[in-house]
Amino acid sequence: MKFSSPLFAATLAGMVAADNPIVQTIYTADPAPLVHNGRIYLYTGHDEPGATTFVMKDWRVFSSVDMVNWQDHGSPMSLSTFSWADAQAWAGQTVLRNGKFYWYVPIRNRQTGGMAIGVGVSDSPTGPFKDALGKPLVENNEIDPTVFIDDDGQAYLYWGNPKLWYVKLNADMVSYSGGVNSATLTAAGFGPRSGNAQRPTTFEEGPWLYKRTGKYYMVFAASCCSEHIGWSTGPSATGPWTYGGVMMPTQGSSFTNHPGVIDYQGSSYFFYHNGALPGGGGYQRSVCVERFTYGSNGSIPVLNMSKDGAPQVGTLNPYVRQEAETIAWESGVQTEPCSEGGMNVLSINNGDYIKVKGVAFGTGAKSFSARVSSAASGGKIELRLGSASGTLVGTCSVSGTGGWQTWVSVNCTVTGATGTQDLFFRFTGGGGELFRFNWWQFGQ
Ligand SMILES: *[C@@H]1O[C@H](CO)[C@@H](O)[C@H](O)[C@H]1NC(C)=O
Ligand SMILES: *[C@@H]1O[C@H](CO)[C@@H](O)[C@H](O)[C@H]1NC(C)=O
Ligand SMILES: *[C@@H]1O[C@H](CO)[C@@H](O)[C@H](O)[C@H]1NC(C)=O
Repeated sequence: MKFSSPLFAATLAGMVAADNPIVQTIYTADPAPLVHNGRIYLYTGHDEPGATTFVMKDWRVFSSVDMVNWQDHGSPMSLSTFSWADAQAWAGQTVLRNGKFYWYVPIRNRQTGGMAIGVGVSDSPTGPFKDALGKPLVENNEIDPTVFIDDDGQAYLYWGNPKLWYVKLNADMVSYSGGVNSATLTAAGFGPRSGNAQRPTTFEEGPWLYKRTGKYYMVFAASCCSEHIGWSTGPSATGPWTYGGVMMPTQGSSFTNHPGVIDYQGSSYFFYHNGALPGGGGYQRSVCVERFTYGSNGSIPVLNMSKDGAPQVGTLNPYVRQEAETIAWESGVQTEPCSEGGMNVLSINNGDYIKVKGVAFGTGAKSFSARVSSAASGGKIELRLGSASGTLVGTCSVSGTGGWQTWVSVNCTVTGATGTQDLFFRFTGGGGELFRFNWWQFGQ
């Protein structure tokens, strides 16, 4: 999706103080965060612009160390990863075991036409992922897998809509023992719902299972439609469950919601989705995050959706190489796979910008270097502080390089960039696409 219309650009510019939704280059949905080696990896689905149902063809990965600047890792897994599947790249979750990342996803089985759970596997959290089995792990036409490995090494895969199912995964993570089990959905366990014989409790879909300070939590999308988020706790990974209450009321112009809960650097975070981007809604969703604090008895508070999102954890170091696709907020740009590895920013037009939040310049930057390309005649990168029209501390000129993947480094002087600042790359030039942007670094 490209917010190229003046209306979208204006709407996005008006949202610049916000950090939610955390990705603006595309629509994202169904967040599944994973903390690994001090970094948050965020696995999401991907809604298509203009779709009038859940048209979802691939999954996406983003990562961050600070909850506000998110690096785009592109799409390391898609429908084509699974030869037996033909549609519905829906809500999954990734877990690490024995050095491999297992990504459980619901997808439509081409042969049966029903929804099944497949497993992607990779040696890296950012993929690429391949089909671990070449067939479904389980299939009963229900969706939304969540995976959890208990302290004793026993792994559980839960999924379901309208029921809640689980299997005990074997240590290989791609087979299970003890058959497919149905969790007992009681009003005491998941909150009462009236008027729906098939769904006697508020549990709807999207379970998220984890353990924290000795308690097991099942957070889930509740009621329909629109959904809210509910939570339950239990003394074991198989319950029995006790309903806790509402975590997030129905809000935010998407009739679904989907939870992902983690602890990171001493705080707790809740990932969810809504329709907050321009053009957003039930089939054009966007992932957001809030920070929260558990009650002393382990209770989960009621959270509202916000535009501010979670506060930044620490600061960003501008004196090491940073990827251009590490973005707190942007207007007008997109990302694509880069011939030099990873991703680069493209679709840079006059007036577009990228915001990088909380950049720690310290006593002052003296130079700036950027890796750029242009099959056109280039343009300029203005380095501004505080806003896209804030103090100009440097300007780097980009010339044509003869190709959109023909990369060169450019370098310019910087004055007046001290302390910790929100940094804006504001792009200027003539008409059309100006240049592409792979990475950047300041010098002291
Ligand atoms: C847990 O604490 C919350 C407030 O922090 C309170 O509302 C709730 O009733 C408590 N639950 C139990 C079971 O004590
Ligand atoms: C959430 O919003 C409601 C309604 O505006 C408000 O009463 C409540 O205090 C808010 N909760 C938090 C945690 O901000
Ligand atoms: C920019 O060029 C100068 C002079 O060659 C060099 O000292 C400086 O390290 C460069 N800056 C960056 C950020 O690479």
